[in-house]
Amino acid sequence: MALIAMSAIVKDYQMGETVVHALRDVDLTIDAGEFVAVWGPSGSGKTTLLNLMGVIDAPTQGTLLFAEQEVARLSDDQQTELRNRSVGFIFQGFNLIPVLSAMENVMLPLQIKGVSFKKASETAMQRLAEVGLDNLAHHRPDKMSGGQQQRVAIARALVTDPSLVIADEPTANLDSATARKIIALMRKLNEKENTTFIFSTHDQRLLDRVERLIRLEDGRITDRMIERRAD
Ligand SMILES: Nc1ncnc2c1ncn2[C@@H]1O[C@H](COP(=O)(O)OP(=O)(O)OP(=O)(O)O)[C@@H](O)[C@H]1O
Ligand SMILES: [Mg+2]
Repeated sequence: MALIAMSAIVKDYQMGETVVHALRDVDLTIDAGEFVAVWGPSGSGKTTLLNLMGVIDAPTQGTLLFAEQEVARLSDDQQTELRNRSVGFIFQGFNLIPVLSAMENVMLPLQIKGVSFKKASETAMQRLAEVGLDNLAHHRPDKMSGGQQQRVAIARALVTDPSLVIADEPTANLDSATARKIIALMRKLNEKENTTFIFSTHDQRLLDRVERLIRLEDGRITDRMIERRAD
C-alpha cells in the first residue's frame, strides 16, 4: 500500500520580494515498510520534502495522500491527530525542549497521547537505553553533546511506535560505533514492525543501508529509484 503519494507537488517560500522554489513538480510514492533515503546537495529541498511527508507543512500546489487520505481535506486538528498517531519526527536541529530532561523529552509524545506517567516513564527509559543514554536520562539537553542530543531526539521519535519515522540527517552527529548501533536499531524496527523510515542524509554509513535512494536537485527528483543492494 502507498503510505505516501505525492503528485505534482510544488513548494514555494516567499522571501520578501522573491520566491524560493523549494520543490518543483515532485511525483513520489513511498510504500508502507520502505527504508528509503532522500539525498541531494544542501538547499535541494530535502527538509522541505520531509516536512510535507510528515504533515508538518503544506504544499503550495499538488496533491498529497497520507494512507490514502488527502491531507488538504483534513482539518488542522485532524492533521495534528494524524501526526501524533502515526509519525515520529527526528528533526535536523533536534528540536528538544531545553527545560526538560532527556527522559521528560522522550516521555512527552506518550503523555500527549494520554499514556499514564508511570507507563510513559518506563517506556521512555527503555528507549533511552536502546540508544545508549539511560545513564543521562535526567540531564538537560544543554548539558549533552550534539550526538547525545541527537540520540534523545531519536528515542523521542521512536517512543510511540509510530508507523512512519521521518528522520532528517539522523546520524550526522554520531561517531561510527554509535551510528552503526542506531542504524541497526532502526533497521530492526523496519524489519520486525514494518515501520517505514524516510531519511534525509549525506551519511555514507546510512546510504549504504537503505533500499532506495531518491535524489533531489534544485527541488526536483533526478534519478528516481536507484536500487541498492539490500543486506
Ligand atoms: N522557511 C523557509 N523560508 C524560506 N525559504 C526556505 C525555508 N525553508 C527552506 N527554504 C529554502 O528552500 C530551499 C530548500 O531548503 P531545504 O531546507 O529543504 O534544503 P535541504 O536539502 O534540506 O538542505 P540542507 O542539506 O542544507 O539541510 C533552500 O533554497 C532554502 O533556502
Ligand atoms: Mg535539510
